[in-house]
Amino acid sequence: MGTSPFYVTTPIYYVNAEPHLGTAYTTIAADAIARYRRMTGHDVRFLTGLDEHGQKIAQAAEEHGMDPQAWVDSIAPSFTEAWKMLGISYDDFIRTTEERHKRGVAAFWTKLHDEGHLHQGHYEGWYCVPDETYWAEDQLEDGMCPQCGREVQQIREDNWFFKLSGFGPRLLEFYAEHPEFVQPETRRNEVVSFVTGGLKDLSISRTNFTWGVPLPFAEGHVTYVWIDALLNYITALGYGSDDPADVERFQRYWPAEYHFVGKDIIRFHCVIWPAMLMAAGIEPPKSVFAHGFLLTKGEKMSKSKGNAQTPASLVGRFGVDAYRYYFLRDVSFGHDGSISMESMVQRYNGDLANDWGNLCSRLFNMTEKYFEGRVPALPDPAHETADDATMRAIAGSLPETYEDHMRRLDYSAALDSAWELIKFANRYIENSAPWTLAKEGDTVRLAAVLYNALEAVRIAALFTAPVMPNTSAEVWRRLGLGDITQVTDILAAAEWGGLPEGSSVVKGEALFPRIYEEE
Ligand code: MSP
Repeated sequence: MGTSPFYVTTPIYYVNAEPHLGTAYTTIAADAIARYRRMTGHDVRFLTGLDEHGQKIAQAAEEHGMDPQAWVDSIAPSFTEAWKMLGISYDDFIRTTEERHKRGVAAFWTKLHDEGHLHQGHYEGWYCVPDETYWAEDQLEDGMCPQCGREVQQIREDNWFFKLSGFGPRLLEFYAEHPEFVQPETRRNEVVSFVTGGLKDLSISRTNFTWGVPLPFAEGHVTYVWIDALLNYITALGYGSDDPADVERFQRYWPAEYHFVGKDIIRFHCVIWPAMLMAAGIEPPKSVFAHGFLLTKGEKMSKSKGNAQTPASLVGRFGVDAYRYYFLRDVSFGHDGSISMESMVQRYNGDLANDWGNLCSRLFNMTEKYFEGRVPALPDPAHETADDATMRAIAGSLPETYEDHMRRLDYSAALDSAWELIKFANRYIENSAPWTLAKEGDTVRLAAVLYNALEAVRIAALFTAPVMPNTSAEVWRRLGLGDITQVTDILAAAEWGGLPEGSSVVKGEALFPRIYEEE
């Protein structure tokens, strides 16, 4: 707690195509932790952005008959618009063609050059343009890229190399001392065994095209796109500038708490990146978390496979909160997950329309009907029933359970714990039958039941807010409460009894109108 800095990043996305469900997935996950950490009082800095250099982008621009800068400028808005639609609360958005980034990249490689971490050499091998990755002959599978299965091209160039080969022992020592650096553990094992197998020096420059940051000490060389891109995490904080505001920002937020990445890019983030930072005398990030792939019909969703879907189509049908909920609840973070329209409709109707939406509408309706839309008083604890106590206990343990899950970025389990309260509150209403109490004229018990259930709703809204920010804000509004995004101490906010007596409750429309399969 307190105002400790919390810096979280997504990969920067290639601007060769518009964002799809896969790229949106990393971004939503990072957004949910950023939102939650703001609610636990952290000073959050959430960075995302675009990877705009390299051969792949240059090719995409050429195919469209455009100059690369004009091309990236034309695609960039499709990302900022998609993130706006998905409620992504980033604090900074970096594009690698920005001056602040190029300046930082030049400063970084000049430093490594001056300090003897580079050498000149000849590169001869294979290159996968779609993955922007070098491969040795013996790594290819049937002559194709071992990662994506696409064609590779042969390159022979005089390049500059980073002496990565010398960093093996330091990296292994670092992984051993910081077991949380690579997560989840399966990925850690993969990284450790890769480094144990021995590292080769890394070619960091290219000469056969020009769309990149020029290496200041080597005429005609542009930096290899990956070692340009990785630096975004520090150039966005101000690395490479001596402006006091930049220096202070960098000192405050670095090292990052989390880099969120897909499992396909962990070697870059867990081997090359920390080695680069070690060479420059900068601390590596605290943790790199690799999530799995979204699969449709068993295949990774990607532009090249032609099965990429844009978020807009699903958001149009389900709404943005249901969209965010589905991916974070249904796919276990860190594993591959199959997604389908059927399971999305099921989650929507079951968890959102039936459980959460219904709970809210029933309660808001009854408050209007029986108490003229005013929250009754906090009930007298002397008359607490066993059910009342159970609900209070579930709500009471939620903050800790939720925090435990979120600390492990287990969104699915965190949402499950919030659902325990939502489900119990529904059962509580069934068991207490407020409509019968009203008929019998038992106003005291009726008031107690409604208060308790409304209070459960208020607390459930707090813990679903990181994933479903709009719904939670709306629920709080309908409960006559303030702006939920202003909550910076979720523990205090979640204390039982926080719902003020007399607060005016608004019925409103259904939060998640049921979707019929035939639609
Ligand atoms: N530009 C590099 C990252 C540089 S970071 C210094 C890059 N860009 S990307 O646009 O190709 O991919 C960005 C992220 O999207 C990766 O983490 C990747 O794993 C993720 N995804 C792309 N397709 C995906 C799925 N089908 N499912 C889940 N995530 C996937 O790599």
